[in-house]
Amino acid sequence: MIRFASQKKDLLPSQFYNLKADLPSLPPPPLNPQTKEALKPEELEVIFPRGFIAQEGTLDSFVAIPGEVRAAYELYRPTPLIYAAGLKKALDTPAHILYKYEGVGPTGSHKSNTAIMQAYLAAQEGVEILTTETGAGQWGSALAHAGSFFGLKVKVFMVRVSYRQKPGRKTMMKLFGAEVEESPSPSTKIGKKFYQEDPNHPGSLGIAISEAVEVAVKHPEAKYSLGSVLDAVLMHQTVIGQEAIKQLEQVGLQPDIIIGCVGGGSNFAGLAFPFLRQHLKEGREIKFIAVEPVACPTLTKGNLRYDHGDTAGMTPLLFMFTLGMEFIPPPIHSGGLRYHGMAPLVSHLVKLGLVQPMACSQEKIFAAAKIFLQSEGILPAPESSHAIAVVIDEALRAREEKQEKVILFNLSGHGFLDISAYDQGK
Ligand SMILES: Cc1ncc(COP(=O)(O)O)c(C=O)c1O
Repeated sequence: MIRFASQKKDLLPSQFYNLKADLPSLPPPPLNPQTKEALKPEELEVIFPRGFIAQEGTLDSFVAIPGEVRAAYELYRPTPLIYAAGLKKALDTPAHILYKYEGVGPTGSHKSNTAIMQAYLAAQEGVEILTTETGAGQWGSALAHAGSFFGLKVKVFMVRVSYRQKPGRKTMMKLFGAEVEESPSPSTKIGKKFYQEDPNHPGSLGIAISEAVEVAVKHPEAKYSLGSVLDAVLMHQTVIGQEAIKQLEQVGLQPDIIIGCVGGGSNFAGLAFPFLRQHLKEGREIKFIAVEPVACPTLTKGNLRYDHGDTAGMTPLLFMFTLGMEFIPPPIHSGGLRYHGMAPLVSHLVKLGLVQPMACSQEKIFAAAKIFLQSEGILPAPESSHAIAVVIDEALRAREEKQEKVILFNLSGHGFLDISAYDQGK
């Protein structure tokens, strides 16, 4: 068996894939937070670049990737598709396990796939500053890199618990020239409210989003950039699944099971959506599993309803699985999965029964990360380890059932800058 599929440049897609074009039904539309009417695209212009808004609303099956963005992708794409021979041996399973390794991105995760596209769109329109939130710092550092690439200033609100747990990513963002503040911060109206109650407030992605949106709304030269959840962000990530389809063809395998971790849903969607297209159009049978933390069980315990994407209620209302905009998840080490909501598209797929959600405890994911490190030699991000924990369960089930299942998962990022989390974790 070939251990690495080809990474030839011609595998890099020239278009993003838009699942909305092929779905039997669409999720209910976002609503204006004040009027509660369906949101008009122009109402988003105060927050997002127009090019991004157009991508958010499109129903075209494919959207072209601009040449400059493809050139930036070529720094690290196509990412490797790796046959997990070591893990297969360690688990003594007949299953074939493969992973798409997004940790080779410039800052160590899949987040660059959308950061580069979003920074490009903002720069095209003369935006000077991009504001954003970040949990573990993967998204913030990806946007800091993309901003420096396209000549934009980046201002990041980093969730306090992660700022303190993961100082390495804060340093990386600053090295790229970004400004980084702990959230909740004393420098915004919404941040101040929480900061004054408790200067050590652990923060949440919901609060950090409110802070970043508040700054973007106040400054006409600034726009806001979101690292997950939105349709366009999920679409940018489909470069992952499109490459994986071609790479799997080379090794002559087709997946029976596709697994990804979910925070806002983007890396899971990026891998799964092009395969969902095959399922919807060609009837190919694939089990799709989205894995979240027990500590932030949006899909497994949340309700499917309209809710705000942030804690202050400034963002549009999205129809999604949510734990409620006020939910502050416990300070687990998977900072990128501490989000109260879920992408409307991923939520819709769960409702349609096309995606199966599962939750894993922190203890379980740390154990899975250790098995993976020892068998594959890569330290996974704690977020990605949620996918690995379920991969191990499925591979062991295949052993029990003596079935040669093909399991594909997204290794969304490496954990080299999460080392202190592993030090403290069990
Ligand atoms: C490595 C990694 N994986 C997964 C996620 C979760 O985000 P999403 O569900 O949008 O992929 C994050 C978020 O920061 C992350 O850093």
